Amino acid sequence: MSDPMRKALNIADLRRLARRRLTKAVFEFCDRGSEDEIAMRDNRAALDGIKLLPRVLTNVSARDPGITLFGKKHALPLVIGPTGIAGWVWYRAEVALARAAAAAGIPFTLASTSSTAMEKVLAEGGGTQWFQLYVWRDAEAALTTVARARDAGFEALVLTVDSPTYNNREFDIRNGANFPPRVTLQSAIDGLTHPRWLVGTIGRYLLAEGRLPRFPNIYFPPEAAAEKDYTAGKVAGFMSRNDTLDWDYLRRVRDLWPRTLIVKGILHPDDAVKAAACGADGIIVSNHAGNVLDAAAIPIEMLPHIAAAAGNRLTIIVDSGFRRGSDVLKGLALGADAVAIGRAALYGVGAAGEAGARRAIAIFDAEIRRTMANIGVRDIASLSRDNVVLPGHVPSFGAPKDGLSAPGANETRPFTVIQR
Ligand SMILES: Cc1cc2nc3c(=O)[nH]c(=O)nc-3n(C[C@H](O)[C@H](O)[C@H](O)COP(=O)(O)O)c2cc1C
Repeated sequence: MSDPMRKALNIADLRRLARRRLTKAVFEFCDRGSEDEIAMRDNRAALDGIKLLPRVLTNVSARDPGITLFGKKHALPLVIGPTGIAGWVWYRAEVALARAAAAAGIPFTLASTSSTAMEKVLAEGGGTQWFQLYVWRDAEAALTTVARARDAGFEALVLTVDSPTYNNREFDIRNGANFPPRVTLQSAIDGLTHPRWLVGTIGRYLLAEGRLPRFPNIYFPPEAAAEKDYTAGKVAGFMSRNDTLDWDYLRRVRDLWPRTLIVKGILHPDDAVKAAACGADGIIVSNHAGNVLDAAAIPIEMLPHIAAAAGNRLTIIVDSGFRRGSDVLKGLALGADAVAIGRAALYGVGAAGEAGARRAIAIFDAEIRRTMANIGVRDIASLSRDNVVLPGHVPSFGAPKDGLSAPGANETRPFTVIQR
C-alpha cells in the first residue's frame, strides 16, 4: 500500500494537513505565536535572508549528515524539541514522536507538560530521549521531577529558562484554549466540525482511559494531586511559572542531574558562558519559536556570537523557525552542533500521528542530503562560515593561496545584525 504521507512534499504541506484535521483552537495553539507574532515572522525572515554559497566539483557522492552529540552518534543533525501540547494533537503523540525519532536515529525531547507518563514514553518510544523541565510555582517540587526523570533513565535534562511568566498568547485567549479545557459552545462547535480529531484523539482517550489527557509528568503537591482536585483552577494556580529562578537554581539542578544537562532559551552570549560556568553541557539558542517574548532577539542572528563566546565549552543547539533542510545547514554553518524542531514535527504528528512525524523527519533528511550535495559538502563537520553569505555581506575574495584551495573569505567578516 502506498504511503499517503508521501504526498506531503514539504513541512508546509504537513501543516496544511494538520490544519484540516485539528480544531482551530488546537491548531492555533501549535501554529501561532505570542502578541503580534513579530518574533515568529522574523525567525523566518532571518533564515530566509541567509544564503548558502555552493562549492562545486567536490564529488559529493558519499554524503553523511550524521553527527555526534554529547558523545553519541546520530543519523541526522536534528533533535525533536519539546512541545507540551503534543498529546492533544494525536492520541499519545509523545510515543509517536519518540518512535519516529528513534527510527530516524535522532533524539526526542519529552515536554514536562506532556500527557503520557514519562516512564511509558521511554519504554514504548525507545531511542534517545531527553526530558524537558519547566519549573512551576513550587521550585522545590520541580526538583522531585528532576529525580524522577533521572531514575526513569532519560539521557539528558533540558531545563527551560526563557519562560518566567505566562506567555501572552492572545490567539489562545480568543480561542478559549485552556488546559484542562472547558466545554463551551465555541469549543463544542470547533470539535464537532473536526470529527477526525474529536473521535481519533479525544475519543480514544475517553475510550482508553475514561478521561481527557492530563499532566502526569508534573509533580503536584498533595493538595492538588488527588484526582478530585484536578480542576482547571487548581492546576492553573499550581502551574504558574516561577519568576524566582536564578543561576543558583541551575547549580542545584546540576548537582541533582548526573547526565547531560542542557539549558534551553539562551539568547545572550554572556548567559551561554554563565550556563557553562554552572556546569551545563549544552544550550538551546532559542526564542521559543516566538511563543514568549514577541520582541525577542532572533536565535539564528545571535548564534554566531554565542558560538564565538562559548562554542568551545558547550554543545550548541539552535531552534525557532527551522522548516527546511537548507535552514538546518545554515544553523550548522553558523556554529550550531544540531538544530531542534518544534512545529515541524507537531504538524507531522497532527496530520497523521507516527506516520506524519516520520514524514516530517524524512523531509528534513532528504532536504539536508540534497542541500549538502548542492553546496558541495560531504559531512556536517566540514560546514563552516565559508558556506554562508549573510545579508548585505557578499564576500570580497582575495586571491586564492593556491589554485585549488578555498579562500576562507568569511572568516574575517563580523556578523552583523540583519537589516530589514
Ligand atoms: C505548541 C508548542 C508547544 C511548546 N511547548 C514547549 C514546552 O513545553 N517546553 C519548551 O521548553 N518549549 C516548548 N515549545 C518550544 C519548542 O521546544 C521550540 O523551542 C520551538 O518550537 C522551536 O521553534 P519551531 O517550532 O519554529 O521549530 C513549544 C513550542 C510550540 C510551537
